[in-house]
Amino acid sequence: MTKPLEGIRIIDFTHVQAGPACTQLLAWFGADVIKVERPGSGDVTRNQLRDIPDADALYFTMLNSNKKSLTLDTKKPEGKEVLEKLIRESDVLVENFGPGALDRMGFSWERLNELNPKMIVASVKGFSDGHHYDDLKVYENVAQCAGGAASTTGFWDGPPTISAAALGDSNTGMHLAIGILTALLGRDKTGKGQKVAVSMQDSVLNLCRVKLRDQQRLERVGYLEEYPQYPHGEFSDVVPRGGNAGGGGQPGWVLKCKGWETDPNAYIYFTIQGHAWEPICKALGKPEWIDDPAYKTAEARQPHIFDIFQTIETWLADKTKFEAVDILRKFDIPCAPVLTMKELANDPSLRASGTIVEVPHKKRGTYLTVGSPIKFSDLKPEVTASPLLGEHTDEVLASLGYSQQQIFNLREVKAV
Ligand code: COA
Repeated sequence: MTKPLEGIRIIDFTHVQAGPACTQLLAWFGADVIKVERPGSGDVTRNQLRDIPDADALYFTMLNSNKKSLTLDTKKPEGKEVLEKLIRESDVLVENFGPGALDRMGFSWERLNELNPKMIVASVKGFSDGHHYDDLKVYENVAQCAGGAASTTGFWDGPPTISAAALGDSNTGMHLAIGILTALLGRDKTGKGQKVAVSMQDSVLNLCRVKLRDQQRLERVGYLEEYPQYPHGEFSDVVPRGGNAGGGGQPGWVLKCKGWETDPNAYIYFTIQGHAWEPICKALGKPEWIDDPAYKTAEARQPHIFDIFQTIETWLADKTKFEAVDILRKFDIPCAPVLTMKELANDPSLRASGTIVEVPHKKRGTYLTVGSPIKFSDLKPEVTASPLLGEHTDEVLASLGYSQQQIFNLREVKAV
């Protein structure tokens, strides 16, 4: 099977999560991704939160599959020379260094464009260029706070809360991947490369779009009718945290199921979708609610929505989360069990679809990772192990025309 990105060579100058998530995605789809790492240490995540001594940490292996690893000290003149050769022969350079690091290394956008006018240079930064915080180094949770996710996540009586989902890191990487693919299509038309920049703040905010919607609604009408604060509580002039309320027009909540007293994940998410009200009443054994004016419309239900949830919890008390969903799905009610990582890791459907995959690794043995969440009719991305540090140094240097002696010399001066 020919992979769509075959023939695209990417210099992967990324580390930690945001950049590596982007280049890993492109590698799954066939790009030749060469991860450039500092000799001796490499990406910091190789050593972070290790579970097996002397083997790359899962943090690294789960974000760097299907790549090659080239060790190169790009601050040494000999290393810079190798990088220049690589730049001349590559299509894309992706980086997520701290602000200004690439310039300090001597590879500004202007210099890169001069070396290879067809090259796409893609960057992740915490804040966009020209932003008053554009000198800041940024990690995941910092971005969630800066992008509006933290102020709108959690319960109204608790502090701003961070999501476990990597809204700042992997999400930004996904935005960057879209930018790179767009620039590659653009290059087919113009023959020219370009700079693609994505900030973590912007990417988080893009996912918090509906909260900006709510800010404007709040300013216009003074309340938000789908939030738990309505109609009994007070609204200030900023979008409040809404706990587990649904973000659209469907009220929903996380509800207790059988066993919640001892199992912290014995819950389902239950959505009271307007058009499903009749089936909901039937499923709950409450046919009298169907035409009752106090329940018939979403507006009528809102003032006592928590009493309704309470009734549903009573119905759920003798059902596990899986039993409950099996009943409710027959009534076309949007709902799901609250699944744990253990349950997801062992989910046969996710194994069958390639979303959870087992990958053999030279040092670790087999590890689990998340495969491509994007499914194609003509492409089945195969996930291969992340590279050992410098595993492909000789191979990449040879492909650039370096002889064995020259490679030896580069090693002697610790440039690779
Ligand atoms: N050879 C020689 N030097 C190298 C190198 C190589 N192969 N690879 C990196 N370096 C150097 C860089 O030139 C830079 O040196 P300088 O600061 O002296 O100019 C340094 O290593 C890397 O710096 P930086 O990227 O700032 O690392 P950091 O550990 O201080 O900060 C982050 C980490 C993630 C906070 C920072 O990179 C950042 O803000 N990135 C942008 C946002 C981002 O992606 N954050 C989330 C990541 S999940």
